[in-house]
Amino acid sequence: MQALIDTDLDLAAELLVDGQCVAIPTETVYGLAANALDKNAAAQIFKIKNRPDFDPLIVHVDSMFSAMKWVKEFPHKAELLARRFWPGPLTLVLPKKKEIPYEVTAGLETVGLRVPQHDLTIQLLERLNFPLAAPSANPFGYVSPTSADHVFDQLWDKIPYILDGGEAQVGIESTIVGFEDGIPVIYRKGAVTEEMIAEVCGEVRTQTHSTSNPKAPGMLTSHYSPNADVEIITRSLRSIRENEGYIAWKELPKGMELKNKFILSPNGDLYEAARRLYAGLRLLDRKGLVRIFIELVPESGIGASINDRIRRSAAEK
Ligand code: TXA
Ligand code: MG
Repeated sequence: MQALIDTDLDLAAELLVDGQCVAIPTETVYGLAANALDKNAAAQIFKIKNRPDFDPLIVHVDSMFSAMKWVKEFPHKAELLARRFWPGPLTLVLPKKKEIPYEVTAGLETVGLRVPQHDLTIQLLERLNFPLAAPSANPFGYVSPTSADHVFDQLWDKIPYILDGGEAQVGIESTIVGFEDGIPVIYRKGAVTEEMIAEVCGEVRTQTHSTSNPKAPGMLTSHYSPNADVEIITRSLRSIRENEGYIAWKELPKGMELKNKFILSPNGDLYEAARRLYAGLRLLDRKGLVRIFIELVPESGIGASINDRIRRSAAEK
């Protein structure tokens, strides 16, 4: 099998109706999609990604009203968040109805739901009479894909089709929010920040670290990680070796010879840095480097979510 990369919605829909997996674009990262009501289709996602069976999938729908079909309750605060941030980079974890199989939720009674902000994928969802389970379209633990080429690089011989929606416009995975005692709890940081959620809901908690039995494996300390060792810069370096790389926040260190380099945002724009982070890690990793040095970005707003991904990519495997 060799994956086709194109924009044919009819073909993508046909493959999905047939129970196959198709990579789809979203504004965060590309997803590896299959029929969320079909446990065999879901099982294929786990196989292709080499994903451990304790890691639940996010279910994508075309609107809040579609989301309501698959959950037992949609609390008022969830509705406020959905109305404010959907379509967009926010996943809401809610009690599932029985139509969503445990194969999708990894045995949990809750399901993560999201309306992605991408025209092609919304059009695809509108054509289907089932929602799409879709984790990021990368082998488990590796850096998520933000372009059709990234997906092809790793999954070209494992899936029939990649729906090409261009470069992902947000570039890091969605914010995941559940509810505990009626209070929103952030399980994974993303472009919808704690401040933005607090503005809508008042009180909000954050609980994004867990090493055993994680609620969200995006919470695993080591994740989003390239083959090269990633080392966060904590002091200024004099020099680096030929087989090492450097990812800077907005400018390269002066007077240092750098062959393998990448700048997240020359203008110091955190949104641009989020959009380019995974492309930078992948670009340097393709060169077979042993180590990638990387600078943290300013910790404000989406910067905290970018730093979260940088720290996890640098964590001991
Ligand atoms: O932006 C995104 O969320 C992308 C795009 C494709 O939508 N998807 C994504 O999926 O990042 P994935 O599988 O790489 O990460 C999904 C995370 C996992 O860490 C999973 O555990 C968590 O969502 N999750 C899914 N359902 C959950 C649930 N019921 N309770 C807690 N966490 C859940
Ligand atoms: Mg992932």
